[in-house]
Amino acid sequence: MARKSVNDFAEKKRAGERLVLLTAYDYTFGKIVDDSGVIDGILVGDSLAMVVQGAENTLGVTMDEMVYHTKLVSRAATNAMVIGDMPFMSYHTSVEEAVRNAGRFIKEGGAQAIKLEGGAEVKEKVRSITNAEIPVMAHIGLTPQAINRMGGYKVQGKTVDAKRRLMDDALALEDAGAFCIVLEAIPMELARDITAKLTIPTIGIGAGMHCDGQILVLHDIIGIFERFLPKFAKRYTNLKEETLNAVKLYAKEVTAGVFPSEKESFK
Ligand code: KIV
Repeated sequence: MARKSVNDFAEKKRAGERLVLLTAYDYTFGKIVDDSGVIDGILVGDSLAMVVQGAENTLGVTMDEMVYHTKLVSRAATNAMVIGDMPFMSYHTSVEEAVRNAGRFIKEGGAQAIKLEGGAEVKEKVRSITNAEIPVMAHIGLTPQAINRMGGYKVQGKTVDAKRRLMDDALALEDAGAFCIVLEAIPMELARDITAKLTIPTIGIGAGMHCDGQILVLHDIIGIFERFLPKFAKRYTNLKEETLNAVKLYAKEVTAGVFPSEKESFK
C-alpha cells in the first residue's frame, strides 16, 4: 500500500472530509498507528523531547535525534504520510541551513514532508524548502519552540490584533507553498475563519471543531504520559495502568515460582 500524499490531503479538504493525524516516535507505536488504517499522517513531533526523552520542553532535541526517530517511524508506515518535525534552531539561522536540514528528514529519515513552526517570518524558508521538492506543514498559534518569547504555553490569537496577525500568517504560509497548516491553541472562531479562507487544509490541536483535520500527541490519548494533559487533549485509554498491572503480575508470578511454567520452558 502506498503512503498518503499531499494530493490525498488536498482532496480531503476539497471533499469536506476530516483529516486525522497523530504523533509517533518509534517503530512499534508507528506500526500500531499505521496499521489502524484510519490515520492520514504521522508526525514525528519534537514533542518527543518531552514524552520520550523526559525533557522539560522541546527546545533541546537535536536534528540527529529527530532524524533517528523519523527513520524508526518510516520503517513502520506503509499507509500514513510521515512528517518530520524540524527542531529548534534547525531552520532559524538561514534559508540554506533550513533547506539542508529539511532534506535530511527525506533522505535519511524516509519522511515525505517536514513541519516547522512560525508565521510570515518563516515564509522564505517555507518557499525554499518547497522549491527543493519537500512539502512543508506549517504551524502557527501556540508554537512551543517560542515559549520563552511567548512567556509560556498560552492560548494565542485572543486580541483583535493577534487574530489579524494569525490570519495574515496563515495566508502568507499558504502563499509560500505550505501544503497544510497546524493551528495550535487558538480560539475556535479564529480557526474557523482561517479554515474558511485557506485552500490548504488546517489541522487543529486545541483549535476547535471547525478545522479540516485534527492532530494529538499519541502518548496523551493512550494515557502513558502523565506529567500533564493539556485542556485540548483527550485520554481514550489508560495504558500506564494496564502496563503497571502487567509489570506487577509478572513480578508476582516470578516471586511465587509460577512463571516460567513448562509452557515457557524448553525440553
Ligand atoms: O511536536 C508535536 O508533537 C507537535 C504537534 C502539533 C502535536 O508539534
